Parts: sequence; C-alpha cells; structure tokens
Amino acid sequence: MSLLEVQSLSKTFGGVAAVAEVSFELEAGHVHSVIGPNGAGKTTLFNLIAGAVRPSGGKVRLDGADITGLAPHVLAERGIGRSFQTPQIFAAMSVAENVMVGRHLRLDRRLLPSLLGMPAVDRANRAARERAQLLLDQVGLGQEADRPAGGLAYGAMKRLEIARALAGDPRLLLLDEPAAGLNPTETAEITALIQAIAAAGVTVVLVEHDMRLVMAVSDHIIVLDSGRKLADGTAAAIRADPAVIAAYLGQAQ
Ligand SMILES: Nc1ncnc2c1ncn2[C@@H]1O[C@H](COP(=O)(O)OP(=O)(O)O)[C@@H](O)[C@H]1O
Ligand SMILES: [Mg+2]
Repeated sequence: MSLLEVQSLSKTFGGVAAVAEVSFELEAGHVHSVIGPNGAGKTTLFNLIAGAVRPSGGKVRLDGADITGLAPHVLAERGIGRSFQTPQIFAAMSVAENVMVGRHLRLDRRLLPSLLGMPAVDRANRAARERAQLLLDQVGLGQEADRPAGGLAYGAMKRLEIARALAGDPRLLLLDEPAAGLNPTETAEITALIQAIAAAGVTVVLVEHDMRLVMAVSDHIIVLDSGRKLADGTAAAIRADPAVIAAYLGQAQ
C-alpha cells in the first residue's frame, strides 16, 4: 500500500479550478516532486494534503485511512509536516524557539494548563530544546540557536522552516520551493539536506522550480498544468515526455 493516496482531488476558488481531479500515489521512503508553471496548483495541492484548505471534491488517504478535510494539527499528529513557500518565521522569537513551536504543535493543548509548573513540563521543555539544537545542527544553523529569528538571512530562514517541520517528527514532509531565492551554494546545501532527510526514512514531497535539484533528488515526479495532472512517473520518464517538455521543461531548462 502507498503511504499517501490522492484520488480525484479538486479545489475551486470562485470560478478558478486551482486543482482539478488530480490523482496519484506516493510510495513510502521515496522523494517525490511536484513541478509545473506558476499558478499550476502546486501550493494548493500541498494546502489540501496538509489540511490548510478543504477540498471541493476527492479524497486523501494516509496509510489507507481517509484523512480528507482533517484539521492541520490533526494531520501534523498523523505525521504530515510541511514548510511554506514564504517562510513563516516568528521574528521576535529565537531560532531555537521557532523550532520548538514545531514540536509543540503536536502536544495536547488540553493537558498543558494542568501540567504547568510540574517538573515533567520542565523536563519536556529541556528535551524540546535539546531536540531543537540537534535539528538546527542538521540544517546548519546550530550556531544561530539563540539569535532572534528575524535577523537571519533568507536562505537561513528557509532552512529554519525545514528544521521546524522536522520537529513534528513527520513521516511525510511537504517542502514548498525550499530552494527559491537561494544562491547555488545554498541550493547545494538544501539538496544534500533533502537527501539526508530522505535517507533517514522520511517520505519527501518537493515543490521546486530548480530542475537540477528536482532531477537530482526525485524518485518520482508529478507534473501539474492549470490544476490538472499532465503526467507522473520516474524522473527519466518525465524528462523524456513530449507533453511535459512542451508545457514546461522546454521553457524551464
Ligand atoms: N486562497 C486563494 N484564493 C483564490 N485563488 C487562489 C487561492 N490560492 C490559490 N489560488 C489560485 O489558484 C491557482 C493555483 O495557485 P497555486 O496553488 O498557488 O499555484 P502554484 O503554487 O503552482 O504557483 C492560481 O490561479 C491562484 O491564483
Ligand atoms: Mg506555489
């Protein structure tokens, strides 16, 4: 059974079909990419899978269980993590605290008041801080842990987003344009980071315009165009697909 199954998923905004009857399956342990021109529906597809937007139609199944329309925090508990195309950073909080927020999204808030002031909470916070440090080391921000996050360079914010998503211990990690706005050195670092995350057993779905990155890391590529799925297959099959070349790769490469 595939980890995630998307079946005839649709979302219309007013009259616009942002995602139109899209179906695909994601195999666990693989790196998948979603490519397509601006406005193709890539971010909306992520929003539908992560619960930020409710579908107009269709189904999403995780490990065979219907998760269509569940709230984002429920889906985070089920193991779906994401980063945002525009970094969603709390500028006044420290870099480490931004990562700890990603962990706390998974704690049961109903229990927090009764736990406050108890040694168990101190221990949990210490453990969260130590875990944040490990994740920051992994994304190359270990030295920045105590700095205000608002002072980070853009490329560092993109990596902080990934560390925060990892703090929720996702099985499925959705990364929306992690290399956008990065220079070639930073893009190479992100490429290596994605490969390390996948090697650790996390199933990754990437939205990305950098075709070198996409072709370097992807086991499977889904091509969207005007909300519809144009093709999906291995990187080699997509690269050779005449419809994909005509619609997208021809201009992008
Ligand atoms: N919240 C929204 N309200 C209205 N239209 C939206 C909204 N989000 C996306 N769209 C529209 O849906 C289409 C797909 O957008 P998007 O998913 O952001 O594409 P991509 O990420 O591939 O660039 C676009 O036409 C966009 O304008
Ligand atoms: Mg987008």
